[in-house]
Amino acid sequence: MCGIVGFVGMQKAAPILLDGLKKLEYRGYDSAGIAVMDQQVISISKVRGRIANLCEKTQDGSLMPGVVGIGHTRWATHGAPTEENAHPHLSNDGRFAVVHNGIIENYISLREELIKDGYHFLSETDTEVIVHLIEMYYRGNMRDALIKTVNRLRGSYAIGVICSEEEGKIYAVREASPLILGIGIGENFFASDVTALVNHTRNVIYLEDGEFAELSAQSIKIFDCSGTEFRKKATRIMWDVQAAEKGGYEHFMLKEIMEQPGAVKATIAPRLRDGKVVFEELEGLAAELPNIRKIVITACGSAYYAGCNGKYALERLSRIPVEVELASELRYSDPLIDEHTLLIVISQSGETADTIAAMRECKSRGAVTLAIVNVVGSSIASLADYTVYTWAGPEIAVATTKGFTTQITVLYMLSLFFADCLKRIDKDEDKFIETLQALPRMIQQAIDMNPSVPLLAKKYHESHALFFIGRNTDYAVALEGALKMKEISYLHAEAYAAGELKHGTIALIEEHQPVIALCCNPSIMEKTLSNIVEVKSRGAEVLALTFRHNQKILSVADDLLFIPDVDALFSGVIEIVPLQLLAYYVAKENGCDIDKPKNLAKSVTVE
Ligand code: G6P
Repeated sequence: MCGIVGFVGMQKAAPILLDGLKKLEYRGYDSAGIAVMDQQVISISKVRGRIANLCEKTQDGSLMPGVVGIGHTRWATHGAPTEENAHPHLSNDGRFAVVHNGIIENYISLREELIKDGYHFLSETDTEVIVHLIEMYYRGNMRDALIKTVNRLRGSYAIGVICSEEEGKIYAVREASPLILGIGIGENFFASDVTALVNHTRNVIYLEDGEFAELSAQSIKIFDCSGTEFRKKATRIMWDVQAAEKGGYEHFMLKEIMEQPGAVKATIAPRLRDGKVVFEELEGLAAELPNIRKIVITACGSAYYAGCNGKYALERLSRIPVEVELASELRYSDPLIDEHTLLIVISQSGETADTIAAMRECKSRGAVTLAIVNVVGSSIASLADYTVYTWAGPEIAVATTKGFTTQITVLYMLSLFFADCLKRIDKDEDKFIETLQALPRMIQQAIDMNPSVPLLAKKYHESHALFFIGRNTDYAVALEGALKMKEISYLHAEAYAAGELKHGTIALIEEHQPVIALCCNPSIMEKTLSNIVEVKSRGAEVLALTFRHNQKILSVADDLLFIPDVDALFSGVIEIVPLQLLAYYVAKENGCDIDKPKNLAKSVTVE
């Protein structure tokens, strides 16, 4: 997904912009560009493909003098990924350059109007209307021109602008697309996320919808749509610069897999007190719970699968019925949701467009909303009645790992918290609290118990298709296991409820077909075992994921992955770890671009 950066200060802008864009690469992009202003002249450099190409073209920025500039990574929506369509876009008179994230929904009518007024369009993008509108409205005052321009736009946008007549200044405005200001000493920044800023400053201001900013080397001024200035509090980012980098691992994904014991611990520890789960952020919700008749969980991608995993513990412990819905479906489904529904919205980034839309739809029907989000200050966190943050830290690899496991962890904790609030507490509560406390250690064991994963990857990496099977909680994990495999290794991988095999899928089983069988739920273990025998007798190679002492499975499977003994209700967060490693090493065998898989974006901020 697109990323933007802006810089104004005393140092050369181009190298700082290029460095910021590199930090945003993980968001997914297909072209990039920067605009730098020097002595009232704006120069632009754009490329298709990687930031490395832009560094080469500008000789690491040295060909572009100037201390003021903006930059962009583009993920094509309107128009192909070409140099012409890459941002920044320049006005016809060359006085303004614009970068933009989001979508201008009414760009076609604006484009027609501007063409009639004599403006020439050089790209197919929706963004280009913005720069021509600014040129049209500019009468010596950028604030006025920006406000008038934004008044004409419908859609979502984080916009960065420079103007050759306003030397030493950069401008920004936000509506439904993330934008953060970075406060430096004698220099200031903006960016679509803090990863691009932490090398320079830890002091940031989160812009909210409808807010504008004017930055110079010495000041940051924030104003609203009437041009009235106001003050906003700065936040100190506690993330390390190191935390946003690879820390010695070959890929961010592997680093993030290894960080899971710590991330899950950071999510659990502050919320366990005197043998109970305590969510201070949910005090108000505790009082509303008796009015709740059902829980609807909505999300996209892995966050949706986190919901599928959490459903079992939530229903079993809180005894509230739970439905899990894809956000892209829920938003258009005329859902049966009212003030007795608790909507749990799960999102690592907090910016996924479909998830936001589903949330707005359900809010308008009266649902109480609770967000589980990793990115502090994100749109979903701001929209929700209640927010529980997962403390996973920045997740850079496009395929989520620690984001996912911390999401499931929060759902486990919510199930205990709700049960407690509703006095439906299970006699086994102590057992579950102990399991919760042990999860970080067990995740580490699940990593340590499987040194054979790279070898298994060598065996399976050339398969045309991989089937993941499991029942109940194992099935929910299989869904995410198959998604991980697809996303990063590009192998066809599908998850099936093991009991469904005989209703069609078994027709696909032939000699040497790999089947990954999840057998970590003792209550239905025998049933899954029968399915393993069925596929084995048709020639399948079975890689089973189970406990070390599970003799029955050990004797039928061809290969094994292990997890430590854990209650099935909370086992998803452990089971997924060997499957993440398997996907990682298969992708590595296949020479895939693991951290930036083709066609995928980390944060999907358009529909
Ligand atoms: C994209 C990412 C997935 C993620 C999904 C939802 O597809 O590639 O890894 O699960 O979006 O993102 P969210 O930020 O809402 O959790």
